[in-house]
Amino acid sequence: MRHNDNLTNERPTFVTHLECAYTGEHHPADEVHNLSRAGKPLLVRYDLLGVKEALSKDALACRPADLWRYRELLPVRRVSDIVSLGEVVTPLVWLPKLARKLGGGDLIVKDEGRLPTGSFKARGLVMAVSMGKALGIKHMAMPTNGNAGAALAAYASSAGIKTTIFCPEDTPEVNVSEIALQGASVYRVNGLIDDCGKIVAEGKAKVGWFDVSTLKEPYRIEGKKTMGLELAEQLGWDVPDVILYPTGGGTGLIGMWKAFAELEAIGFIGSKRPRMVAVQAAGCAPMVRAYEQGVEHATRWENAHTIASGIRVPQAIGDFLILRAVRESGGFAIAVSDEAITAALDEAAREEGFLMCPEGAATYAAYKQSLADGRIRRDERALLFNCATGLKYPLPAVHKTLDRHKPIDFAAL
Ligand SMILES: Cc1ncc(COP(=O)(O)O)c(C=O)c1O
Repeated sequence: MRHNDNLTNERPTFVTHLECAYTGEHHPADEVHNLSRAGKPLLVRYDLLGVKEALSKDALACRPADLWRYRELLPVRRVSDIVSLGEVVTPLVWLPKLARKLGGGDLIVKDEGRLPTGSFKARGLVMAVSMGKALGIKHMAMPTNGNAGAALAAYASSAGIKTTIFCPEDTPEVNVSEIALQGASVYRVNGLIDDCGKIVAEGKAKVGWFDVSTLKEPYRIEGKKTMGLELAEQLGWDVPDVILYPTGGGTGLIGMWKAFAELEAIGFIGSKRPRMVAVQAAGCAPMVRAYEQGVEHATRWENAHTIASGIRVPQAIGDFLILRAVRESGGFAIAVSDEAITAALDEAAREEGFLMCPEGAATYAAYKQSLADGRIRRDERALLFNCATGLKYPLPAVHKTLDRHKPIDFAAL
């Protein structure tokens, strides 16, 4: 096995068509698409019987540990279209001290901060940009809360595709600089992510930008799907009892739900599914409200605010897909306060040495809340998503200083 086998060996591909997630209407593969004719997200469909015959667990086990090991379940047909910056399989990290302290079952974090550009947005964007390259797209545009824009900028620059990116004006400086340094034109907008999305839609209509907004093109879901493929393989082709996912646009939650169905269809896992828990911030919780009201679509959350900027998404086009996965799985949607997020971040860093991003910390806060109110049982194995490296976020000043010219009281240090 050579380290770059997945990037250099042609493998059979099995995409048959794209399907409207709402109406089921078919759209042809290998053509440029945004939303379906009904204005809903498109899902990529595969000849899963063909995949079942072509791929075995043993063959997979011999491949290098990166996202491209799942090529038979991915849309990119030719290796020459793969735009890679090193999409490693992210580790599962156990948090035994916190699990013991809370008296719960196994507590595991999938640490997505190890990916290129430091967040799980790399998974979706590496796929969207590789497919953009395959389909000859020249100019991509996107609204972002930061991490998605950074991943788009990086992969698009690598592929030689022009990018124009819009983010809310209070997006952390590190994200905006990262986007610009990685070759995109980036603008701060006095509004939220859906206001930025309106500018992208206008640019699409007026000058033909390709809109890479969450779920408005078909391939980011396929990239995010690999989180589900990976974690099942890492757990020995098993799934955890509960997955807590920090939900903005919900691509990852929808993608993982799709991954589990495909894995069952190719005989890699059984019918057991994790309960999918959509975690949102109390200051922006449209999915939680819709879940509690028992409705299929979520209305816009006005005056959205939270320190977890990645999940500050007032309205999501894939709302019905998020809610469907949550309900079908027997999961739930839960909101956590900014205070609980900060306390969770501090606790995991201090006690386990695991510096989460605020969105990742939201999943730990939600886990604690759910364990306390009985929505997660003490014998359940729970998996949290740390969706970006904690190092990307502004950290509080907590340094103590020492004057080396004065006598040092070592016993007190
Ligand atoms: C760190 C972080 N966590 C979570 C999310 C939400 O992800 P999704 O859109 O898949 O719900 C984002 C999206 O910007 C993010 O940057």
